[in-house]
Amino acid sequence: MTDTGLIIDGVSMRFDLPNGSHVQALKDVSLRLGQGELMSVLGPSGCGKTTLLNILAGFLAPTEGRIVLNGHDVKGPDAERGMVFQQGALFEWMNVRDNVEFGPRMAGVPVAERRRTSDRLLEITGLKDFKDKMVFELSGGMQQRVALARCLANEPDVILMDEPLGALDALTREKMQGLVLELWKETGKTIILITHSVEEALLLGERLLVMAPRPGRIHKEYRLPFAEMGVGADLRTVKKDPEFARTRDEILNMIWEMEEEIMGRTEDA
Ligand SMILES: Nc1ncnc2c1ncn2[C@@H]1O[C@H](COP(=O)(O)OP(=O)(O)O)[C@@H](O)[C@H]1O
Ligand SMILES: [Mg+2]
Repeated sequence: MTDTGLIIDGVSMRFDLPNGSHVQALKDVSLRLGQGELMSVLGPSGCGKTTLLNILAGFLAPTEGRIVLNGHDVKGPDAERGMVFQQGALFEWMNVRDNVEFGPRMAGVPVAERRRTSDRLLEITGLKDFKDKMVFELSGGMQQRVALARCLANEPDVILMDEPLGALDALTREKMQGLVLELWKETGKTIILITHSVEEALLLGERLLVMAPRPGRIHKEYRLPFAEMGVGADLRTVKKDPEFARTRDEILNMIWEMEEEIMGRTEDA
């Protein structure tokens, strides 16, 4: 048995509500990700995507099952697992470089070394000319670059992203999708990315997980060539691949049917 990679082993999460009822946010989710795999996660709202990510981050303990990373149990938050949120998680009162160096500084990394790290990351995220700017001076797309660089500065094995590009305009989003692919190839990190966009999930997932709600569970998994095709390429060309369009329609229909079912059930209730 190999002990590198990430194992989600029979994870269930039940939230007990103050009124005595409960929500089964996840039920018996199992999955194994190899080091360096890129996985996107899709599913209707409420199917447990964020809950799963919070459990992987160690912010929440599952009611059943466990998470194993590189052979050891995940018991809480740790720099080995970095999180990138949709927005708002940067230090607004610090400049770009200080944001990127924050983790290493807290970890006691010497100045010269963390300077080298931030120089390299500012370079690969296209932020070199912005390093002295304050975060609030930057556009949303630039802020997400800072969030990515700051996450990478902690040298995580796994990067967890919850709708990281969800608040960006279409063009910026497309550029950032390209950057995520570049970073994936260049750093060899394991990446899990939640998105509401079927296109984005197809582009940014060599594995794509479709989750279903009530209870939150894995509905279907795809293995896809598009992320690999998109590295250093024009993503619009990738989207024109007939197989891309076919898979997109299949998944859209799948999620549409789930949403219909949820609506139906709500109306019956
Ligand atoms: N802290 C909590 N307490 C109670 N219910 C929660 C809590 N967090 C999430 N839930 C419920 O669990 C389900 C899954 O939520 P979530 O993981 O946020 O879904 P998604 O990210 O896929 O939209 C939802 O029904 C949500 O209302
Ligand atoms: Mg969510």
